[in-house]
Amino acid sequence: MNIRNFVIIAHIDHGKSTLADRFLEVTGTISQRKMREQFLDQMDLERERGITIKMQPVRMDFNYGGENYILNLIDTPGHVDFTYEVSRALAAVEGAVLLVDATQGIQAQTIANLQLAKKENLKIIGVINKIDLINDLEKLEGLKQEIAKLTGQKPEEILVVSARTGLNVKSILEKIIKEFPAPGINKEKPFKALIFDSHFDAYKGVVAYVRVLDGEIFSLREIPRSGTKQQIIYALATGAKTQILELGIFKPELVPADKLSSGEIGYIASGLKNPAQIRVGDTLTTDSSAGQLPGYNEPKPMVWASFYPESADDFDLLKDALAKLKLNDAALHYESETQEALGRGFRLGFLGMLHLDITAERLRREYNRRVIITTPTVSYRLRSRKGETVEIFTPVDWPDSSQIESIEEPWVHLEILVPTKYLGGVMKLMDSYRGIYNHIDYLGLDHLILNFDMPLSDILVDFHDRLKSVSEGYASMNYEFSGYRKGDLVKLQILIAGEPIEAFSKIVPKNKAYNEGNMLVKKLKEIIPRQNTAVALQAAIGGKIIARETIPAMRKDVTGYLYGGDVTRKMKLLEKQKKGKKKRAAFGRIQLDSDVYLKMFKSKE
Ligand code: GTP
Repeated sequence: MNIRNFVIIAHIDHGKSTLADRFLEVTGTISQRKMREQFLDQMDLERERGITIKMQPVRMDFNYGGENYILNLIDTPGHVDFTYEVSRALAAVEGAVLLVDATQGIQAQTIANLQLAKKENLKIIGVINKIDLINDLEKLEGLKQEIAKLTGQKPEEILVVSARTGLNVKSILEKIIKEFPAPGINKEKPFKALIFDSHFDAYKGVVAYVRVLDGEIFSLREIPRSGTKQQIIYALATGAKTQILELGIFKPELVPADKLSSGEIGYIASGLKNPAQIRVGDTLTTDSSAGQLPGYNEPKPMVWASFYPESADDFDLLKDALAKLKLNDAALHYESETQEALGRGFRLGFLGMLHLDITAERLRREYNRRVIITTPTVSYRLRSRKGETVEIFTPVDWPDSSQIESIEEPWVHLEILVPTKYLGGVMKLMDSYRGIYNHIDYLGLDHLILNFDMPLSDILVDFHDRLKSVSEGYASMNYEFSGYRKGDLVKLQILIAGEPIEAFSKIVPKNKAYNEGNMLVKKLKEIIPRQNTAVALQAAIGGKIIARETIPAMRKDVTGYLYGGDVTRKMKLLEKQKKGKKKRAAFGRIQLDSDVYLKMFKSKE
């Protein structure tokens, strides 16, 4: 069997999903009639936002030089918050197409993803995309040279294509067949596969996405024909054991097949209903004494936020939803916690703010769970006057300042890739952050890599947006955790109608607390709808009020607009209002919709 397994990697928006569309067309995997843009972005959420969140495998058949080939492509996300998806996909393939947008050139995730691919010892081919937008041939030559330097190819080997028009797309497939190594094939050994992704299906249980290393496994229908015995399959790390329900390939929808063999990529429906029994990175095998594959390192969460069910009765539903979501989002970290002010909920760890935002949105759309979200924060290390060190994941747990001896916060190495002409703008921007300049590297003729050390919390909220705006969209960034450093920080509290709302509490640098407090109450004033009485919004540090706004009252007879004498409708409305009041009592004097929490920490609304 002629197989090639590969990924497309790129900076965000350089055209991976569009190139994948063309591959699907050229290979006849998707008919013209069914084709729609960014076909492999299967989630509605991905299509609405125009970003890839999930990796998506697809199997294509392609005839080249009179021979049939199976091409297994895994499309990967470009945004830094979803890097874990990329790194897991890389471990399931032999080659990577490094795609670079001709109009943008090399950007931060181009380099970051390339480095991940190199670590996996993948064969890499460079491709320049969006050539339909470029007339400057000299610039193109320069870009070829820059990419060739990164991939170790010759500049003339870099392919130049348009994923939009389809120009030269076929030549990428031909190069893949010629240059990417075929997977190693050991059909004689017992079946062994790496789980690189999964999802939950109400009927089929946990569906594991696998790359088969050794052996073969047969479908229930095929077992009697092939003469093999009924196969029991083991997940080595979790100790789970099951008979498989179904297996198959990605087209990209799940299509049942008769067998999966060494070298192939496919899915195995385990029938297991407990999400915890199948874990990404685990080894599936028919030989319980087999050695485990190396698997994956768990990613380190960068941002923490607590999610509480809107109603305390929904705790178990939220728990179930998180377990199922985790199957499809291995980077998600969660554990249960209880807070006096908020009840029972979960502390979640994310790779970034977009990851958090997408998680809340997926919980709502896929599991119908609405949640109250505490202000996202990094984790802090506190040394108390008694000499104890504690790690704090939520401002709710922040002790009184009189008990704190010292505070440490996480810092990152920040790399900013920027065309030389925006250098001034970026340096000026950096002045308003706590970042410390390190050094400059030169990338090609007119690109720079600026290296900074910066507190992680500074880049979480709107740094990326501001970087984009000072560079007309050309600067890009990448960062990695570098360690903890001392910080002069305080807890900022928000009071609504005199009551502290712990979910909005925030840890901020002391010298920025006044500005931040002012900004928060102003923002809240815009977000919270008017109530029946005037509502005071205050920001406080250690009990001292530092900022105040007021939402004016709205006097309104809720039934007033129901002209005509429909008494039953009036009654219903009044009944509803009563219920609202009950809920309000539970929350304090005013009730906040769960959207308010999401809006509060987003930079732009
Ligand atoms: P993420 O997965 O979210 O990182 O994005 P992506 O790399 O998959 O990029 P996508 O395919 O979504 O393309 C981004 C934008 O570039 C879309 O608006 C595409 O229509 C456009 N695009 C992609 N390829 C080409 C091309 O060859 N020419 C032109 N003109 N536009 C292109």
